[in-house]
Amino acid sequence: MTFGKTALTFLAAVSLASSSLQAASPVPVGAEHGMVVSAHRLASDAGVEVLQQGGNAVDAAIAVAYALAVTFPEAGNIGGGGFMTVRLADGRQTFLDFRETAPKAATAKMYLDKAGKVIRLLSTRGYKAVGVPGTVAGLELARERFGTRPRAQLMAAAIRLARDGFVMDQGDATFLAEGAEDFAKDAPSAAIFLNGDKPWEKGHRLVQADLARMLQQIADHGADAFYKGEAAQKIVAASKARGGILSMADFASYKAVERAPTECDYRGYHVISAPLPSSGGVVICETLNILSAYPMGELGWHSAKGVHYLTEALRRAYHDRNVNLGDPDFVKTDAAKFISPEYAAQLRSGIAADKATPSVSLGMPGMNHEGTSTTHFSIVDAAGNAASLTYTLNDWFGARVTAEGTGILLNDEMDDFSSKPGEPNMYGLVEGVNNAIAPGKRPLSSMTPTIVTKDGKLVMVIGTPGGSHIPTGVLQVMLNMIDHGMTVTEATDAPRIHAQWMPDVLFHEPNALSLDTRALLAARGHMLEQMDYWNQIAVILVGGPAIGKPQIGKAQLYGAIDPRLPVGSVAGY
Ligand code: GLY
Repeated sequence: MTFGKTALTFLAAVSLASSSLQAASPVPVGAEHGMVVSAHRLASDAGVEVLQQGGNAVDAAIAVAYALAVTFPEAGNIGGGGFMTVRLADGRQTFLDFRETAPKAATAKMYLDKAGKVIRLLSTRGYKAVGVPGTVAGLELARERFGTRPRAQLMAAAIRLARDGFVMDQGDATFLAEGAEDFAKDAPSAAIFLNGDKPWEKGHRLVQADLARMLQQIADHGADAFYKGEAAQKIVAASKARGGILSMADFASYKAVERAPTECDYRGYHVISAPLPSSGGVVICETLNILSAYPMGELGWHSAKGVHYLTEALRRAYHDRNVNLGDPDFVKTDAAKFISPEYAAQLRSGIAADKATPSVSLGMPGMNHEGTSTTHFSIVDAAGNAASLTYTLNDWFGARVTAEGTGILLNDEMDDFSSKPGEPNMYGLVEGVNNAIAPGKRPLSSMTPTIVTKDGKLVMVIGTPGGSHIPTGVLQVMLNMIDHGMTVTEATDAPRIHAQWMPDVLFHEPNALSLDTRALLAARGHMLEQMDYWNQIAVILVGGPAIGKPQIGKAQLYGAIDPRLPVGSVAGY
């Protein structure tokens, strides 16, 4: 899906850093006490309201997640799943995994025909694509572990927005129209998201009465209302009637789990990121470890040499991702090896300064696609607690089916498994048997909710949607700030590249690489191709508008929302 770059109509930018970039980016939005950066203005406001009422970053994250399920049906959800990285001001940190699981009736070959060929769309559209949702269990786990406010208070904004509706702006309308063709094929979706057979336009008040009722039941009775109550019953009934395999037992046995984050260090910064079943932390840390021996700052932003080393590091990290990684509760993977400095040194010794490594020479696994319909938000509260949450329906609007009487759009997360090891998935990812389908298993993810600290102090909260482009997006915005001295907005706006081992292509956004840089990269053997926009980075930088720059007035928090999608906001107080 392609989005035009939305015009940012801020005042003229004041470039506070960056010797190598001439981009005109707005001065970052600053806040004194707390900040929420999310994909929807009303969800960001809901989070800030909770912060102002004295709730902490996790309280606010719960409020934002439920609000996005109403105002950003593209990816906000209670019918999907995701991850939250949490770091408290006292240094405690953890990772909450509420990734969807494969239903008990799932089988390794459920998306193949008799000849062993992948059946198109079976894992991405309709009920057979749906994994057991994890979001409600995850948000409830977060509230039990770290929350300080009653559930009803945290869900009040979402319930109000669903029950009374909200007035769609142009961004909402443009985005919602992307799902119109599929909504027309699903009567419960059409009844909510379409005006007859046409998309709703700007100015329409989008009311979601059934969703409001489901949210109210959760607010009143907790996660059981979703997993054992009317929501599960109606989703299972719809699934059974329309070719799906979900059962009440799938819902009753779903569990969100707490895991230790994946961590590494880069030039004095400490990275706290997503562990398996997300590949995000491994890809970020493996790449950073390789890059740590190259003078990326001195080489210059998007110099041919810098892009070459970044591409070579990503090639190796994505190779390890696709060949080796999977749900740690089902497959043994030596993730610690992949993020060790010794392993990075070994990989670096295979990187030539003047020659691209052919991807096939790293060895082939099986192969696989991966959905972009993800959304990320970053939150910091007045005490310095941080929540970094990425959750998803996989594709925008997931499987594009809404269970009748619930208003709940359902995910197509089953497509994040390798339907057939060796076949590229929606993102062109080629994966191995460790990510094969099995009942109760979590599909490998790329979601990378990340927090960065330095000397024990919070520096950055960051994440993005984008499927396989998530780790590369997060990584480049981090590098732009750490190595290239950009402000948080410059770092977010700057054009990006992407490489993921297979296909063996160095992708670049429009204007990311000059003609002569492209020529220098091509001379090294890189195959170059322009790509669309994939990410919507939502990032908060603590202490100044750029790393090492003094704060402006009383503002301690500086936020940026990626202009690559037509929605999103930075809100603070
Ligand atoms: N569905 C996108 C991801 O989990 O990476």
